[in-house]
Amino acid sequence: MRNKKQITLSDYKTGHEYAVQQDQLDELSNYREQFHIPKDKNGIDWLYFTGNSLGLQPKSTQAYLQQELNDWANFGVEGHFEAKNPWMPYHEFLTESMAEIVGAKPIEVVIMNTLTTNLHLLMVSFYQPTKTKYKIVIESDAFPSDKYAVESQLKFHGVDVDEGLILWKPRKGEELLRIEDLENILEDQGNEIALLLIGGVNYYTGQFLDIKKIAKLGHAKGCMVGIDLAHGVGNIQPNLHDSNVDFAAWCTYKYLNAGPGSLGGLFVHEKHAHNKTLKRFAGWWNHNKETRFNMRQPFDVMAGAEGWQLSNPPILSMAAIRASLDMFTKVGMDALRKKSEKLTGYFEFLINALDNESIKIITPSNPEERGCQLSIQVKNADKSLHKKLTEAHIITDWREPDVIRAAPVPLYNTFQDVYNMVEKLKSILNE
Ligand SMILES: Cc1ncc(COP(=O)(O)O)c(C=O)c1O
Repeated sequence: MRNKKQITLSDYKTGHEYAVQQDQLDELSNYREQFHIPKDKNGIDWLYFTGNSLGLQPKSTQAYLQQELNDWANFGVEGHFEAKNPWMPYHEFLTESMAEIVGAKPIEVVIMNTLTTNLHLLMVSFYQPTKTKYKIVIESDAFPSDKYAVESQLKFHGVDVDEGLILWKPRKGEELLRIEDLENILEDQGNEIALLLIGGVNYYTGQFLDIKKIAKLGHAKGCMVGIDLAHGVGNIQPNLHDSNVDFAAWCTYKYLNAGPGSLGGLFVHEKHAHNKTLKRFAGWWNHNKETRFNMRQPFDVMAGAEGWQLSNPPILSMAAIRASLDMFTKVGMDALRKKSEKLTGYFEFLINALDNESIKIITPSNPEERGCQLSIQVKNADKSLHKKLTEAHIITDWREPDVIRAAPVPLYNTFQDVYNMVEKLKSILNE
């Protein structure tokens, strides 16, 4: 069991008073004020449901960035040691809180690069095809960047993509993945599969897969198991260490609110932390930090996730990440998940209460199998619904072929946001 199901459908009510009352009862309601909420030209807050794409800006971010700009202005290169938060070890200031969010040990986590880059660096180590064991499994609806990355890794190793890439697909007429189907793939082809690279929370359907089970199934066939947590981090609790996956990577611009294009995070399980024989790419930043500046030393790889870094990292991006992680540390993932399950359950309840056959939620209804996002399939792929929502400053996103993704984010979305969103949806559908 991951989280216990605590809320039942009968707890929810359709009227506006219920939303007002729930916002009053919400112990995290004060966090909304700590974000910049985009507004229309009359100063009315947008209904922002795209924290799954780009999280909003915490008001504290500016001061964190300003600190580093000041120290750069005041110290120049000496800021590496003299800054209030010295830049040399700056990434270490992020490690503990980042590890806590993904359920990892500090040695297993580092902030560096961006997501697709990190996936490649991890595949350099964890995709080591042989003549007989060379295939990679991904979800059929994996995020395109992951698919391209995997295809290019196959080609790089001289493996024919059609032969080497296995797609884990939903069954005909279904949208969600079934673990039994992965089991069947592994039963049939496990001896030829080198790597499973799976989205922990699928970007399209919002399905949160049982990554512990996936790791167990993959390892039983001698495969490496990696997870893309772009849609999971800060949203669900993946318990990466206990899940026993070999590696994971994520971005920080979605639920972690660290700004457009901000750095990503990477997890390598402790069991690989001291394996100096793992193949990997190298740079000065994964060389032993005690002797890094002696220069001209033979390469001596660092232990743990830090051993995948290459370059000295951009401090300004890390300052924004730090602002966000400090907030997450205060809130705690348990409290966040508790509110999230309730808020998304309420969203689902109101949409289902519309009982309109033009829309259908394809995200799992079990809170243990989803984060905060609901994916709403629109009949006949009618994009005008999304367009009308956007015109009303209800920000969701459209994903081809026929889905509106909408994520009430527990840090800054309210029950009234959800109520108002569904009221507008109702009036558009009834036009
Ligand atoms: C699941 C998933 N994988 C990969 C990416 C690509 O991320 P990046 O541009 O940071 O490499 C994204 C971006 O949204 C994503 O959602």
